[in-house]
Amino acid sequence: RTTFKWLWRASYLSFIVGVGAIIYDGYLDRNPDDQFTPDPTKKTLVILGTGWGSVSLLKKLDTANYNVVVISPRNYFLFTPLLPSCTTGNIEHRSIMEPVRQILRHKKAAVKFYEAEATKIDYERKVVKISDNSDIKGTINETEVPYDMLVVGVGAENATFGIPGVREHSCFLKEIRDAQAIRTKIMDCVETAAFKDQDSSEIDRLLHMVVVGGGPTGVEFAGELRDFFDEDIKKLIPEISPRFKVTLIEALPTVLPMFSKQLIDYTESTFKEEHIEIKTKTMVKKVTDKTVEAVVTNPDGSKSTITIPYGLLVWATGNAVRPLIKDLMSQIPAQKDSRRGLAVNEYLVVQGARDIWAVGDCAVAGYAPTAQVAAQEGNFLARLFNNMAKTEALETRINELSSNLNLKPGNVTEITGEIEGLEKQLRHIKDIKPFNYSHQGSLAYIGSEKAVADIAWLNGNVASGGKLTYLFWRSAYLSMCFSSKSTRLFITYDYINKLLARNRVLVALDWVKAKLYGRDVSRE
Ligand code: FAD
Ligand code: NAI
Repeated sequence: RTTFKWLWRASYLSFIVGVGAIIYDGYLDRNPDDQFTPDPTKKTLVILGTGWGSVSLLKKLDTANYNVVVISPRNYFLFTPLLPSCTTGNIEHRSIMEPVRQILRHKKAAVKFYEAEATKIDYERKVVKISDNSDIKGTINETEVPYDMLVVGVGAENATFGIPGVREHSCFLKEIRDAQAIRTKIMDCVETAAFKDQDSSEIDRLLHMVVVGGGPTGVEFAGELRDFFDEDIKKLIPEISPRFKVTLIEALPTVLPMFSKQLIDYTESTFKEEHIEIKTKTMVKKVTDKTVEAVVTNPDGSKSTITIPYGLLVWATGNAVRPLIKDLMSQIPAQKDSRRGLAVNEYLVVQGARDIWAVGDCAVAGYAPTAQVAAQEGNFLARLFNNMAKTEALETRINELSSNLNLKPGNVTEITGEIEGLEKQLRHIKDIKPFNYSHQGSLAYIGSEKAVADIAWLNGNVASGGKLTYLFWRSAYLSMCFSSKSTRLFITYDYINKLLARNRVLVALDWVKAKLYGRDVSRE
């Protein structure tokens, strides 16, 4: 009984501390310290993009050392791992968007932000041409931004391989507006299928949701879609629910090729239980407004063509290089053999270019195009730039002291001592190791509150799949990268900082809301 009493008291206390910390966290978020403007004679560091690579760089960069300018058509950071959950309303889209102005306002020194698209990087003149592509236009919509140092973190666009009809008829899943479009279209298909006297074959077509691409994006979306139907639509519109069907089409022999065989088998059997049909060795060749045409490789090696009617088509076949990057590559002879993006060296310097670095999906550094890689590359560049600034400051001071040696011969020992100390620091700072990616593992949600994970563990991999992995998936994403100022009252600052970001609270509330009241099925 006494133990119970203490346990109760402890949880009550943690609750009060938790709520207090959230309130204090919010207060710090809204009342940042005053910022100063960096010395205009410092170098101008231009950062393109506000995705995983660029934002990770910004979060760790000491902005007092440079005149930092950020350019991106998106004035927010998007937490892509939870984007598939937005397509069904399990999470509301604003919960996974972090305003870039908020991030920048919390930096020590002010940073300029322009909501614009970089249309050309003029490598010879060291300028970036930018264009305001938003709906509201001012009198100036295009201009140039000069740089001393440039970081390119513009990500990639959707690959369509030039397949006819893909751009016109399918939905992608890369940006917030894509998730919103899918959410609207799912409900449109459902409501149209439920229309009075609807034709029977038309009901089947409308309720057939086809996903092309069996990578993690396609698999996670298919899982979310099935959950949405089973947990909500089925209860609200039971008369059409038996006709609902999800098909996942993949050109390779298996889905999730980056996962271990055991997890691929687990995913395929879970999909079977969830009634998600997987069509492997099936390559889509053409898309029309109502059908998908694909070539199937049969078990005997022969090929046949099939036509699949669909209501919603989601295209998730990976990444392609953006035109801005293609154009930059064409200006640099050393990039002529690179196909998948800007080839970079081990310090992420764009090969054959001076003063340009690249991070994330637009860079080819020998790693998969993932958020994990982009974030680690951004962190690495922040360390590199912070060190470069410190090096410059130390070298200036050493030069100053060295010239003083001749002017003040009386203080030779003192000055030499200081120089030696500074040189030691300099050697330490200059000794920055090349970028080395540390793989933490792969995680993917596969529906029915199950996930698969290949986690890097003691020089090996641990493969796990199921409901416990799903709980791990949720807590991992909840405690990941969103930032905020947090309470400095606690010694466990870092822990609390990870726990209490605004977006984490919003995501957790969304999950609770969807569980208690179901997903919102109103069509916007
Ligand atoms: P992005 O995050 O795509 O950011 C690019 C930025 O550049 C954006 O701000 C964009 O607006 C801006 N930009 C674009 N064009 C221009 C231009 N011309 N000028 C200036 N700015 C420009 N990876 C994982 O590791 N784990 C996951 O669970 C995971 N889940 C994912 C789920 C989905 C649905 C998707 C689509 C991807 C997922 N990924 C995941 C992959 C991950 O999101 C990418 O690898 C990551 O976003 C790459 O980061 P980035 O900074 O290179 O590009
Ligand atoms: P992907 O490149 O991983 O997979 C695309 C799939 O589409 C491939 O398997 C390919 O064979 C298939 N495909 C291509 N053309 C086709 C066609 N015409 N017909 C049928 N199938 C075709 O792309 P995805 O899933 O968008 O992922 C992109 C990157 O983001 C990857 O690096 C991935 O690891 C990462 N990511 C990671 C996630 C996670 O860790 N949970 C979630 C989502 C993405």
